[in-house]
Amino acid sequence: MAELTLEDIQANLLRGHKLKHVLHLFGEVRAEDAAGVEDWRAFLGRLGSRITRASAWQQGASVTINVGLSFAAVSALRPTLARELEASFDAFREGMPRRAELLGDSDFKREVWERRNVWVSISAQTEADLNRARDEVEALAENGALLTDYLEGEAIEKDGHWHEHFGFRDDISFPAFEGIPGLTPAEIKGRGKLQNGSWTALAAGEFVLGEPNESGENALEGLTEDAQVLLRNGSFAVFRHLQQHVEAFHEYAQRMRGAEDADFVAERMMGRTKQGDPLVPTDEPPGSPDQSNFNYESDPKGAQCPMGSHVRRMNPRDGDGRHRLIRRSVPFGKPALAGQPAAGPVGLLFVAFNADIKDQFEHVQRDWCNATLSNAVPNARDPIGSAMQLRSMVVEGSPARGRRAQLLLKIPQFVTCLGGQYYLYPGLAGLELLAAGPARNASQRVLAAVG
Ligand code: HEM
Repeated sequence: MAELTLEDIQANLLRGHKLKHVLHLFGEVRAEDAAGVEDWRAFLGRLGSRITRASAWQQGASVTINVGLSFAAVSALRPTLARELEASFDAFREGMPRRAELLGDSDFKREVWERRNVWVSISAQTEADLNRARDEVEALAENGALLTDYLEGEAIEKDGHWHEHFGFRDDISFPAFEGIPGLTPAEIKGRGKLQNGSWTALAAGEFVLGEPNESGENALEGLTEDAQVLLRNGSFAVFRHLQQHVEAFHEYAQRMRGAEDADFVAERMMGRTKQGDPLVPTDEPPGSPDQSNFNYESDPKGAQCPMGSHVRRMNPRDGDGRHRLIRRSVPFGKPALAGQPAAGPVGLLFVAFNADIKDQFEHVQRDWCNATLSNAVPNARDPIGSAMQLRSMVVEGSPARGRRAQLLLKIPQFVTCLGGQYYLYPGLAGLELLAAGPARNASQRVLAAVG
């Protein structure tokens, strides 16, 4: 079992804190502005002691403050180190704006997201706590002059659980991997990988840099000591600003309902019931707190949970434990009241962590979400996907239940990606190295700490 250094890992990576109010602050560090770069270094140095660490989960933190930096920001702060990372981490180097087309996004606000190269994320249980933490961070950031832009989110709580704007329970499934504090054998069931009939935890290196991954590889091997310190105990965060078209979703489900009700269609597109229960039978009773303990072995042809539904595409639960994502998303915008349209734009501030952007997030987005499944109807894509492409889906029939297959054609776009970025979510020692600037290297840092 991997022993992780919780004091060096940022909070929310190993365990989500489930804090209701979220504020994502953004700023731009520009390499050509030498004085500005120094201001950013000083800010990150001051911020270091305020960053919430993974150990805070056990203490039950009611506020978390965390930071991520895009490749452009890392390059401005440590140009030589950034050059070293270029070859091994090319998706991170390019950044999401330059890979938007490859991800199928066409409404992507590229310039906005190229500027958002530093991301400070604050989560809090109450608005008052959030505002206090925001004031504190802004005071450290040259009185707010560095963090010029923000996005706000708030969890939608229903029946004691978090939901998203289409009305589904969210935040159920997470990958169980070695080193998560307090991970129980029960949590590994359905969340780890199935080996010889029993569930085991995934390798920590799928999410935490510097640990071996499922192939036994360590992504930091061969890098210089400084580059290793920069990345060790960090992860890559994928941020996506996803707008949801809630009326279009409900209207389509209503139009396609046939002999069933609209919820039946909506739940087949999502791949879970609105309450979060899997569509395949499990050993757990409906509504059980453990709605992740299942796989699709008993439903190989999708008679119960369509092969093309969002949840089944995003995690087919049949593999080798790869291509998994830790999701820490929170909705934005006020939810629509029953029978009325939402007052303004709504959606999801999608955040996912992974150690290998190409093999994890981009694989899921391109090969599972946007790509047509073999032997399916033309344009069969994830109905919840954001790609600007034609979308259709098969709801496989269930002869045992006398239900015939249904084709969902011309599925409108329910989700639009407005933009996003890839950020390094560094360990605390990595953050310290970035703040210290190129004059100091990792061994000096260690010596300074000992001295
Ligand atoms: C607005 C857009 C989205 C909505 C409304 C949405 C909604 C949901 C819901 C309701 C669930 C089931 C709850 C759970 O298993 O925790 C889920 C699961 C999941 N979603 Fe999404 N999602 C969205 C975008 C995405 C994107 C962009 C990705 C990745 C590219 C993604 C990946 C996943 C994964 C990996 C799971 C867990 C599947 C499992 O382990 O069974 N989702 N999503």
